[in-house]
Amino acid sequence: MKSRKILVTSALPYANGSIHIGHVLESVITDIWVRYQKINGNECLYFCADDTHGTPVMLKAKELGIEPEELIRRIREEHIRSYSKFNINFDNFYTTHSDENKEYAENIYKKCKEANLIFKKEIEQFYDSEEGLFLSDRFIKGQCPKCGAKDQYGDGCSVCGTTYSPDDLVNPYSSLSNSKLTKKKTEHVFFDLPQMKDFLEDYLKNLSLQDPIKNKLNEWIEDGLKPWDISRDAPYFGFEIPDEKDKFFYVWLDAPIGYLASARNWAENNDINIKDLWDEASDFEIHHFIGKDIAYFHALFWPALLKSSNIRLPESINVHGFLTINNEKMSKSNGTFINADDFAEKYDGELLRYYFADKFNNSIDDLDFNEDEFIQKINSDIVGKYLNIASRVSKFIEKNNNNLSAAIDEGFIQKNLTKIDEINKHYENLNLSKSVKIIMKMADEVNKYINENEPWKSSEEKAVEVSTTAINCFRVISILLSPVLPSITSKALNMFNESSNYDFNNIRDNLVNTRINPYKPLLKRLEKAKINEEIEMENSDLINIKDFAKVELRVAKIVKAEGIEEADKLIKLHLDVGDLGQRTVFAGIKSAYDPENLNGRHVVLVANLEPRKMKFGVSEGMVLASSDEGSIYLISPDEGAKPGQLVK
Ligand code: MSP
Ligand code: ZN
Repeated sequence: MKSRKILVTSALPYANGSIHIGHVLESVITDIWVRYQKINGNECLYFCADDTHGTPVMLKAKELGIEPEELIRRIREEHIRSYSKFNINFDNFYTTHSDENKEYAENIYKKCKEANLIFKKEIEQFYDSEEGLFLSDRFIKGQCPKCGAKDQYGDGCSVCGTTYSPDDLVNPYSSLSNSKLTKKKTEHVFFDLPQMKDFLEDYLKNLSLQDPIKNKLNEWIEDGLKPWDISRDAPYFGFEIPDEKDKFFYVWLDAPIGYLASARNWAENNDINIKDLWDEASDFEIHHFIGKDIAYFHALFWPALLKSSNIRLPESINVHGFLTINNEKMSKSNGTFINADDFAEKYDGELLRYYFADKFNNSIDDLDFNEDEFIQKINSDIVGKYLNIASRVSKFIEKNNNNLSAAIDEGFIQKNLTKIDEINKHYENLNLSKSVKIIMKMADEVNKYINENEPWKSSEEKAVEVSTTAINCFRVISILLSPVLPSITSKALNMFNESSNYDFNNIRDNLVNTRINPYKPLLKRLEKAKINEEIEMENSDLINIKDFAKVELRVAKIVKAEGIEEADKLIKLHLDVGDLGQRTVFAGIKSAYDPENLNGRHVVLVANLEPRKMKFGVSEGMVLASSDEGSIYLISPDEGAKPGQLVK
């Protein structure tokens, strides 16, 4: 296959705050795809930048008593550092406050003007005379027109739930100065989006974009596009609009243009002509990665701007859902907000890549982060399956002076290699969870192969052959996982002196009869670090989700049940709790159950109950049951639940 040229972007984070793990989700998905393309022999470039303009940045700088330029300089450094903790490999992480971006914004605007797509119109806007600022909706507060609740934002009432526009607020005031607001007339510059209707309809047809988003956009188009207000009045931190007085480009005009500017800045630093990279006739495909909240900007305004200036249009927009924390929206006040840096202080950021990849299937549904689940996933898959292969067989190879055998189990190897195409297909389609699951299945098979061939029991020669087979599979798995876990797999591939020069082309070449480097353990089992501190809650009869989360419920399988002869109520249960290992629990269920019928049954275990010393031994937890006068009823999960799985 001919190799492709691909230009990739993820959305530009705002320069008024830190990177959180929702941003990380987006960059991880993007980075995995980019790395996959690269090791598959394609030329792939990944551009991003900080989105630096707008009122919030201006106000934040004012609050800190520094110039906006200084604020965005600091934030950009911080952002670059934060992303690097998750091994995001940008080719360029630039800024929208740059000469390149200014030039592009002005040129695109000029082209739009020449195409009669720009007009001016007087509008009325809330004005804060104390601050001397026209206010955008988010800074306007007032009384709810429906229920009269005070201090509500302009988009809706948090008390009665009514939605409305800032114009409907009673006694509107500025959340910046608390002063009463008045309406003031001002002339704004508009982009005439309705003129682009036919083009946009057509463009959407060929654009690769998830269906639910496409349908929504088509609905918007059908409902009638409106002209887009692209100007803001001074004072504003941004680019001044040419030939206008005290008018600035709205931040969302120059933000996506920041993709182009980042590419151009990289091209110039690498002696490449931007025309060969991103221009009308360049042969680079363009792929954007964004969250679902900004699809409107990327699939309507942005292509309209590009089209008007004859710049190459994106072939795909890959949209993802929002990251929630314990199934709640990320919010600082709920204690459900995780800064990227805070995460990376507790855990190796690379591991979060695996957790996200394991969950992401290119749908626009929200995706949840749960710390327990994260730990369990890493321990079970990375430590327990993948790295376990090397740690189990490396000693047999070491005993052979680190030499691999000449013989290898070709049949077994081939069986694994047949999966590669499918794994690649899922990577390409961003069905990362499928790729990861097939790879882990492969690791399972290799562990099973080691179990069945028992190198610890066989002759030295046989042990080396089994280990050579297994370690070759370990190498294949490492290469396949490398887009997800670039750092761990690169260390793993050091065993074969391949830490950087591997790719999917030589993945099928077996290593035999050669010396390798000894395996050094790459990851210890994780222990819980508690990323977001518990916040104190008021006492009440109702419990919140955090209280409930303190009870660790897990699926357990009864591997053996014995009646205690001396106790007429107790049955001793030996439970398999997956990753947590085996547990013994004494349950008072003998009146209702025959131990023999319990073997193999799945139950729900309270896994973090303090161990209790009983007459017949220590009980390590409790199994859930319900009872009435007549009987006792064990609670069981539906079929398919696996031992160790969390119940929540
Ligand atoms: N600055 C704009 C984007 C301009 S692109 C030309 C912006 N910035 S943002 O910081 O709010 O968001 C950056 C990206 O992160 C967006 O794609 C957004 O959808 C994504 N996310 C922000 N919070 C997120 C989660 N909680 N979960 C997943 N993605 C999230 O929008
Ligand atoms: Zn209300």
